[in-house]
Order: sequence, then structure tokens, then C-alpha cells
Amino acid sequence: MEHAALTTRPAVERLVASKIREVANAGIGRRDVVAFWFGEPDEVTPEFIRRAAIDSLETGETFYTHNFGIPELRAAIARYLSALHRPRTPDQVAVTSSGMSALMILNQALVGPGDRVVVVTPVWPNLREIPKIVGADVATVPLAFGAAGWRLDTGRLLEALTPATRALYVNSPNNPTGWTLAPTERDAILAHCRRLGIWILADDAYERLYYAGADGAAAPGFLDAADPDDRVVSANTFSKAWLMTGWRLGWLTAPHAIMAAIGKLIEYNTCCAPVFEQRAGVVAIERGEAVIARTLARYRGARDYLVERLRALPGVAADAPPGAMYAFFRVAGVDDSLAFCKRLVAGYGLGLAPGAAFGAEGEGCVRWCFAASEARLADGVARLERAVRDLAAAGRRAG
Ligand SMILES: Cc1ncc(COP(=O)(O)O)c(C=O)c1O
Repeated sequence: MEHAALTTRPAVERLVASKIREVANAGIGRRDVVAFWFGEPDEVTPEFIRRAAIDSLETGETFYTHNFGIPELRAAIARYLSALHRPRTPDQVAVTSSGMSALMILNQALVGPGDRVVVVTPVWPNLREIPKIVGADVATVPLAFGAAGWRLDTGRLLEALTPATRALYVNSPNNPTGWTLAPTERDAILAHCRRLGIWILADDAYERLYYAGADGAAAPGFLDAADPDDRVVSANTFSKAWLMTGWRLGWLTAPHAIMAAIGKLIEYNTCCAPVFEQRAGVVAIERGEAVIARTLARYRGARDYLVERLRALPGVAADAPPGAMYAFFRVAGVDDSLAFCKRLVAGYGLGLAPGAAFGAEGEGCVRWCFAASEARLADGVARLERAVRDLAAAGRRAG
């Protein structure tokens, strides 16, 4: 008997699998591989944050919470955002089970089949793929790479934001390039989107990892300029600034008018975030500024060290990014970054992410997460140096 092929929905079949994973899966678990492929700090979560979760479990907090999270955490996040940006009330905040979950819920809330979504690229693949899950059409607007690093052509973006556009997805500071939206660019985009009724989804995961601002300041973002009733939503996470990637805890903010709808979506996705994690989230927000300051100083040092070492390698062009925790750089002679990264793993025990994973304009580049010790970074650079010298020698032989 003939069996029809087992397939998922066409939209799901068409999703592009992560090329970062494709490289990592080839080397994960190999002890001889020094890996910088994921966006993850190499430090465990600070003790006082872990302690809050343990205490919560020990007192028997093992039950569901309100869909939007425990009131203490919503209030703490609202105070935190109000201090960093503009005043925000707890009823505009929902706790989510990761930054990724915040993005997915906002995506489900705002876009549907056939909607046009504009995404600024290169970008973390998840942001580009999630609109496709709900059947939306994704148009990308590339950042341009030049002598001054990655830059947004605001005119080109505004042209792409047509009256038929439903939403704009922007990640700033950007994974992988570190590009950060300037206030003038933000204001032009916000004014245009207000005029045309376009939603802005700001992925603010790296807003506290910003090297170009005053100490402790968040990167400039839409939350600094948006009114409470603007069509602006923001997704955020405890993962990066508080060293909590494995916890899967995040939050979103949205205009009051859509919060009831967001509540329904949280119910039908995850119901709520785990309560003991939410307790840890409260202390992270309330007592975590020193953690963020130390992390920022450490990453700034790591960034400067890595970029200087990379620049000294033949054929490597690297810039110090203003935000996030990645060096995204070109290697001369690399025109297939996926194949190059697989070769780095197999032949040199070095794990990097291929630039093509982040969009066509990332081809020829590789991404290196510098949230790591100087000793590990030095080991990685030595491996990359061997690889680029071999590549140059092979080029000479072929030439
Ligand atoms: C740009 C960006 N947004 C959001 C996230 C989501 O973080 P998480 O799901 O760990 O909270 C990440 C994680 O890598 C990211 O790079």
C-alpha cells in the first residue's frame, strides 16, 4: 500500500534550519573543539540568583502562577524599565519563558498569513524565521558594510516599510554585527511607522551590552521614544545581561490595549513561567546591576583583545562592535562560510558560526562570541591563525 509522505505544514517545511546548529552538531561533545558558536557566556549564573530559585523550591513554590507572572516580578521589571527608558506600569509587562518565547508570543499576536514583515538583516536567524511559522511573508533590508562598519540605510528601510507592511522586526544591538540603532534613525522609523500604522517589534536582548554609552546606560532603543499607546512591543531576556541562558526566562512589554490578547497567547503557549525562576528574576533585577557592570567590563576587555588579535591575522578584517557580544568579521578567500566553519571544526578544533546563517549579506563572514576568558580566546585565535595560513597557502597553490 502506498503511504503519503509524512510532512508538516508547508510553512514549517519551508523553515530554514539553523546553520549555526549545522556546524555545532558536527562538533558538539568533542572535547578537542574550542567553541564560540553559541551566544552564551562561559560563566555560571551568580550565586545569589541561583539561591533565590533554590529557596523558592525549598519553600514549596511548585505551582502555576498568573499568566503574566508573579506581581513582584512584573513590578520589578516595570521599575527597571522606567529607570532605563520611559515610565512603564506593571500591567504593560508580561513575564515569559525565555526571550525566544516573548518573541514568539508577540509574533503570534501581531502577524498572520500573508502579512508583510520587514526584518533588518544580518540577524539572528530566529527573528527572520518566526514570522514564516505563522504564514507571514518576510522581506529583508540589509545593513550595509563599509569603512565605518555596519550601517543602516534609513531611506532604504523606510521605502521597504510600505503601507501594506504589518510589522518591522529590529534587533539592536544586533546579533551578529553589534550594529546599534542611532536615536535619529529610530525617530525617523518610529515617525514613519506611526504614520502608516506599522507595528515595531524591538528585540532588546542586548540593550545592556552596549559599549558606546555612558556607564550603566542601555543602548538607545524604541522604548526611549515610544508612547504607551504606540504600536511598539519589546522582547527581552534574562539570558545575556544576568548570565541566565539555561533558565529560559524573559519578558515582553506591549501597549495596554493588547495585553489581554497576550495573556491568552501565554496561556496557550506555556501558561506561565516557572515560579522559582521568577523569584530568581526578582533578585536579578533588584540586585543585579553589579553583575551587569562586571559583565560589561569583562566583555569590553574580551572584545578589544579579540579584535586586536584578529586584525593581526592575514586576510582578516575585524571591527570592534558597539554592542552585543560577537565579533563578526570577514576572512579573505572565504565565499562559503558554512563550509569554512565545518572545516574549522573538523581540521582545527575551532567552533565558530557561519555568517551565512544570519542572511545572504553575512556570507564571507564568521561570528565569534567573545563572552569567554582571554586564555580560551587566545587558544581560538591560534587555531584560526593556522586555518587562515593554510587557506592562503592553498590559494597561492591554486593561483
Ligand atoms: C537577538 C536575540 N534575541 C533574543 C534571544 C533570546 O534569548 P533567550 O531565548 O535565551 O532568552 C537571543 C539569544 O541568543 C538573541 O541573540
